[in-house]
Amino acid sequence: MSTTFAFDVYGTLINTHGVIDKLSKILGSSVSASDFSQTWRDKQLEYSFRRGLMRMYAPFSICTKDALNYTASYYQVSLSDTDKLELLSSYALLPAFDDVFATLKSLHGQGFKLLAFSNGTEDAVEGLLKNAGILNLFDGLVSVDDLQTFKPNPDVYHHFVQKAGSVAAQTWLVSSNPFDVIGALSVGLKAAWVQRSQTAIFDPWGVEPTVTIDSLLKLEAAFLTASNVSVLALE
Ligand code: 2OP
Repeated sequence: MSTTFAFDVYGTLINTHGVIDKLSKILGSSVSASDFSQTWRDKQLEYSFRRGLMRMYAPFSICTKDALNYTASYYQVSLSDTDKLELLSSYALLPAFDDVFATLKSLHGQGFKLLAFSNGTEDAVEGLLKNAGILNLFDGLVSVDDLQTFKPNPDVYHHFVQKAGSVAAQTWLVSSNPFDVIGALSVGLKAAWVQRSQTAIFDPWGVEPTVTIDSLLKLEAAFLTASNVSVLALE
């Protein structure tokens, strides 16, 4: 059985801070657009974790919208309905990182099975990938929406493996989100952590990613090295 790659979407393929220019225009000099964007993203994830724990599922776009309202209150910024609509619409069309296209094209060309795997609903993720011109490089996509809960609930990783027709040991999650990487490792998947910034910290939980890379362009080489090491260890 060949390897299946599960690509996380927000933060890994798609740049969640791609709204910074729009934020700068709306916020002016009153608040740092990058601080606002970071709080928005952190709160969005916190809301997904809390909704998962409370079994109060709502689509990820609701976490995004509620987090935007929280962030505006936090920074004491008054956003008009038009501003909010504009920001949420651009969230649906966020750009891909520069290293995404070449990586997917190379892996796809070599016959690896590539799936997108996200907290976002199928429609939202499909729209993002299409807009970024990378949808056709995937063999499919799996959304947590199928189970009405969020990462890192172990069930969503099992669901991914089953829906992909793979097995845990032959499945690699590729994610910039440490909570996602730890979630996948904890149910037996392999995981590549994409350290998208030098200041990003991997949670010190005593578990390490199978590989750590600072660009998706290094994924293939890191994957091959790790796979050879485990074959040699078996011999
Ligand atoms: C995703 O599932 C975790 O936001 C991240 O796409």
